Amino acid sequence: MNLYKYVSDAINEKLGFSVNLETPRNRAFGDFSTNAAMALAKTMKKNPRELAVEIANKLSELDFIAETSIAGPGFINIKLHDDFILNNAKNHAGTITQTPSPMIIDLDYGAYNVAKSLHIGHLRTSIVGDTLNRIARKIGHKTFSWNHMGDWGKPMALVIAWIERLHPELPYFQENFDPTQSVDYTISPSELNTYYPSASAFAKENPEFQAHAQDIKAKFQKGHQGYFALYEKFLNVSLQSMSDTVNRLNILPFDYNWGERNAAKYIDTVDKILRDQNMVYENDGAQIINVKKDTDNAPMPPYMWVDSRGADTYDTTDLCAVYCRKQTDNPDLLIYITDSRQSLHFEQLFRASDMSGIMPYNKFEHIGYGTINGTDGKPFKTRSGNAAGLDDILDAAESAVRNRVFESGKNLDNQTISQIALAAVKFNDLLHDVRSDYVFDPSAVTSFEGRTGPYVLYTAVRLNSVLRRAGGNNLQEQGDHTKLTQDERNLLIEILDFDHTVQSAFENRATDMVANYTYDLCQLINTFYHNCPILRDDIDNETRGHRLTITKIALDTLCVALDMIGLTIPSEM
Ligand code: ARG
Repeated sequence: MNLYKYVSDAINEKLGFSVNLETPRNRAFGDFSTNAAMALAKTMKKNPRELAVEIANKLSELDFIAETSIAGPGFINIKLHDDFILNNAKNHAGTITQTPSPMIIDLDYGAYNVAKSLHIGHLRTSIVGDTLNRIARKIGHKTFSWNHMGDWGKPMALVIAWIERLHPELPYFQENFDPTQSVDYTISPSELNTYYPSASAFAKENPEFQAHAQDIKAKFQKGHQGYFALYEKFLNVSLQSMSDTVNRLNILPFDYNWGERNAAKYIDTVDKILRDQNMVYENDGAQIINVKKDTDNAPMPPYMWVDSRGADTYDTTDLCAVYCRKQTDNPDLLIYITDSRQSLHFEQLFRASDMSGIMPYNKFEHIGYGTINGTDGKPFKTRSGNAAGLDDILDAAESAVRNRVFESGKNLDNQTISQIALAAVKFNDLLHDVRSDYVFDPSAVTSFEGRTGPYVLYTAVRLNSVLRRAGGNNLQEQGDHTKLTQDERNLLIEILDFDHTVQSAFENRATDMVANYTYDLCQLINTFYHNCPILRDDIDNETRGHRLTITKIALDTLCVALDMIGLTIPSEM
């Protein structure tokens, strides 16, 4: 239930005009407040405080409003009835209003690269993309997640060239390679991880090797059977490690693992669309699309349709991927989640797609995220000073959790440690505005206190334990007139604010709203837990039953929120 919307709609209808409704941080004076009287006083030529009294009297007629009060120059505070709050929380905790206008949304995130190990840059696209996907689905949109793999470009050629250097005797490099033959050659994931960095470093020093790789790329993309068979070998190794990562991150499986290679199938079709409209120009041997507008103040380089060596580029396959998605899902919205350094590329892509009529500009969005830094403020590195891989981040968090657990004398199994570490990494990632950089400090993010993943998991574990100890049979109904304590009210109102938060998180593409909400919810849960004893002997049955009901409602809401972040709750902590 979207309490905010419910109250706001009812008030607007009652007054016959729209007011600006706020949810005050300090709820001691009211669950909601409005500055409507002050805003309207001028036009209505009235004294704001007197107008506030008039409006407040009208509002008191609404059956769910228990009391109104006027503060300062004319703020109106509104308090809801306890029964109204409790009953709605009971009936609607954790439910999300379905959108009246569901969209088909393609989400492009993850976008892992074949033959290159996943690096720290893939963490945010995976986490933010997955959470946005879960939020959109929860609201009732139909989404498709696309792992637009880098599986067609120069890195493939470099790896092939490198393997040729290491094993020239393999049959893959012959022009007359027989694709039906079986070749006794396997590559381990750790071996494969070294190939691309070695090959690209070597290519920088050796122009001949570099030129050979270019040649391989062209032949590979034109269908060289040997290169393709070798590619399939390492493609499978890479796909396996991608799927391990998806599992380790507990993100939803991708609907499409279709990347650049798949998109390349549409090159001829898209080429025709572009040429029919005279959109492709020759420039220094390359084929370009001019996407500059007269109104541009910043530089807007041309879109590279075919590069000067005649090869497909990142630009080529991205435009073809739009065409492919149009044919496959025909989305109302196509959202890309990548490093913010790619914003220019996407601006060019959206313009090229718009100009060619493949998909209009207003159906695109790019969410560009910032960098993950170390405590020194520079991009996070491993202890040995290397650029961090995605696994390095998770490993660093796991070892920090292990230390903490060891120091506290607890004994938790490996699965629980991984669950906590993943919560630490994901929660910290989602807490920050996606556009900003943030600092990753393994020790800080794994703290069991403060705005952290372990803290929110611990809160869920605590609620589970209360309900377990209560044995579940104390959930009795109360009488008609409940009197809530301030801590109970605060918690229930927050619970009823969940739907509103999720809707706003989606509208603003702000996954951080869900993470921050989850933390605020947990804080209120813990205050309630400390101030409102449940299982203590001196608590009467009715109070206990009522508090267990609130505990259950809080847990239900927290579970839905944690699920949106893709976290699982350990059985103990
Ligand atoms: N594979 C690219 C990278 O690792 C990101 C691709 C993003 N998606 C896209 N359609 N261009 O940086």
